[in-house]
Amino acid sequence: DDPALLAAFQARIDAGEKIEPKDWMPQGYRKTLIRQIGQHAHSEIVGQLPEGNWITRAPTLERKAILLAKVQDEAGHGLYLYCAAETLGVSRDELTEMLLDGRMKYSSIFNYPTLTWADIGAVGWLVDGAAIMNQVPLQRTSFGPYSRAMIRICKEESFHQRQGYDIMMKMAQGTEAQKRMAQDALNRFWYPSLMMFGPSDAESVHSAQSMAWKIKIDSNDGLRQKFVDQTVPQAKYLGLTIPDDNLTWNEDKQGWDFSEPDWTEFFNVLKGNGPCNHERMEARNKAWDDGAWVRDGLLAHAEKKRAARVA
Ligand code: 3HC
Repeated sequence: DDPALLAAFQARIDAGEKIEPKDWMPQGYRKTLIRQIGQHAHSEIVGQLPEGNWITRAPTLERKAILLAKVQDEAGHGLYLYCAAETLGVSRDELTEMLLDGRMKYSSIFNYPTLTWADIGAVGWLVDGAAIMNQVPLQRTSFGPYSRAMIRICKEESFHQRQGYDIMMKMAQGTEAQKRMAQDALNRFWYPSLMMFGPSDAESVHSAQSMAWKIKIDSNDGLRQKFVDQTVPQAKYLGLTIPDDNLTWNEDKQGWDFSEPDWTEFFNVLKGNGPCNHERMEARNKAWDDGAWVRDGLLAHAEKKRAARVA
């Protein structure tokens, strides 16, 4: 890229200006945004699978309706984000292909199974809680379409987290068996939720450049710390125990010291060896194949209408 153009671009970023699709941007800026927004969108779509598993198993009609609404919201979040990525010159089909053949990622958290109903509470409380912690700053990201998509998405996420916490409250204040189920869900989702914020800042390959371009507003470790500080009192209120014997209040930093997740496990999940990676990719590949006739029919219909207009 031309150094003068780069300097002018960085000055716009430093001045807090929004970059719009038709503006000049460095190749690397475009590439990073396609990667991050595309993987964010994939996370929304794949994230429907662990929860979808419980729509037919929800304990009451009300819980079923709430979960259905949440899963539908996630599909919509995926669509907003694919639209934002398309403004960068990549098609939704290309992004989908890169998900299906493993060239693009989705959030590691969705490779963990939802084994009990309490898991649906833990997903709403912890996974959507972590997603909110990450997405609120992203409303100020420098790329216009991404920032505007985030503003819309954040409005819906708080409902997702609240309904999850409501499930956890019900279980934690229920029978002994329900409380054990809630504690088991917290035990299994705590560390994978910490992993959602990405590797430690020292291990993060993209953070420095992404923060210089204000694509990433806060560091991985900074957001992880904020999430822990917010969540510890919530677990206490539920009467549940965070599965970390090293969790101690640090007066100096006015925050909790906590054990790091198992980063070997994290990078293993990213390599495709998590508990549900194959199942998730099979489900997405099957949905793509099973939907081919719908896409073909829509294209044929559009072509017929176009030919009729031209005739
Ligand atoms: N899962 C999968 N991959 C991850 C990851 C995770 N939890 N954390 C990091 N990675 C990947 C990165 O994508 C990168 O790999 P790549 O070069 O192939 O893309 C590599 O690990 C190195 O990590 P970095 O920290 O250097 O990468 P980033 O600067 O991109 O930071 C991120 C990672 C914080 C996840 C950032 O990409 C981000 O903020 N993304 C947008 C938010 C997002 O995608 N959230 C996912 C959850 S959305 C969700 O939960 C939906 C909710 O409604 C339930």
